[in-house]
Amino acid sequence: MTAETRDLSGTVVAITGATSGIGRATARELVQQGAKVALTGRRADRLADLQQELGADNAVVVAGDVQDPAVSQRLVAQALESFGRLDSLVASAGVGAYGGILDGTDDELASMMRTNVDGTIWAIRAAVPPMLSAGGGDIVIIASVAGLRGGGNEAVYAASKFAQVGLAGAIDRELRTSGVRVTALCPAAVSTEFAIGRGRTEGDAWLDDVLQPEDLAAAVTVVLRQPRRLRTTQWSMWAMTEGN
Ligand SMILES: NC(=O)c1ccc[n+]([C@@H]2O[C@H](COP(=O)([O-])OP(=O)(O)OC[C@H]3O[C@@H](n4cnc5c(N)ncnc54)[C@H](OP(=O)(O)O)[C@@H]3O)[C@@H](O)[C@H]2O)c1
Repeated sequence: MTAETRDLSGTVVAITGATSGIGRATARELVQQGAKVALTGRRADRLADLQQELGADNAVVVAGDVQDPAVSQRLVAQALESFGRLDSLVASAGVGAYGGILDGTDDELASMMRTNVDGTIWAIRAAVPPMLSAGGGDIVIIASVAGLRGGGNEAVYAASKFAQVGLAGAIDRELRTSGVRVTALCPAAVSTEFAIGRGRTEGDAWLDDVLQPEDLAAAVTVVLRQPRRLRTTQWSMWAMTEGN
C-alpha cells in the first residue's frame, strides 16, 4: 500500500501565537503548502508585518489576548468570513518562566495558567463548531515535554502543559467519531523568544543546538497531511543534543 498524504492547498488554518516562534514558522510553512491562515497574537505590528509577508489573500489577522474568549471567537469568525471554512486550529500561544514553586508573583503564575490553559480552551471552543458542521477538522496543541513529565524549576509551567495534554486526550476521545483529530505536539527546547528574560537569555549559545521553530512547523504539516483514516494523538520531539 502506498502511503498517501493530503494536499493542504485551499485548506484554512487558524493559528494562535502567530507573532513569533513556532506559530509564525507554522504560518509561513502552511502558506508555502498552499493553505490560508488566520493569525492571532497580542502584537498587532508583528501581525501586520506577517500578513504583508504572506499576502492578504493568504492571511487574515486578529490582534488580541488569548486569555479573552472573544479574541478566539473573532479569529474564527474572520477565517470563516474571509475564506469560507475552517479546517484546522494550531494552538501555539503560550508563555513560560523558569523558577521554583515559590518564585514569581501570584499574578504572573495565574496569568501563565490563563494564557496556556484557558487560552487553549477558548481557541478550541471557538474552532470546534465549524469543524463539526463540516464533518471534521484538526486541532494541534503545541504542548511540551514538560506536559509529559514535570521538570524541575518549571512547576507551574509544567502544570499548564499537563493540562494541555489532558485536554488533548479528552477531546480526542470526545470528538474522534465526529471526524475531529486532536494532536498534542510536545517539543523539548525550541529556539524562540520563549522565556527570554524569564530564565533564558537572548543569544544563549545552547539555543543554537536545540529544535528550531521550523522543525515544529514541519511536524504540524506532517500531522495535517496524514490521511484521515489515521491520527497522531501525541508526538514528543527532542533535539539530538538533549537527553530526556
Ligand atoms: N520554545 C520552547 O522551548 C518550547 C518548548 C516546548 C513547548 N513550547 C510551547 O510552544 C508554544 C509557542 O512558544 P514559542 O516557543 O513559539 O515562543 P514565542 O516565540 O515566545 O511565541 C509565543 C507566542 O504566544 C503568543 N502569546 C503569548 N501570550 C499571549 C497572550 N496572552 N495572548 C495572545 N498570544 C500570546 C505570543 O504573541 P504575543 O506576545 O504577540 O501575544 C507569541 O506569538 C508555547 O505554548 C510554548 O509553551 C515552547
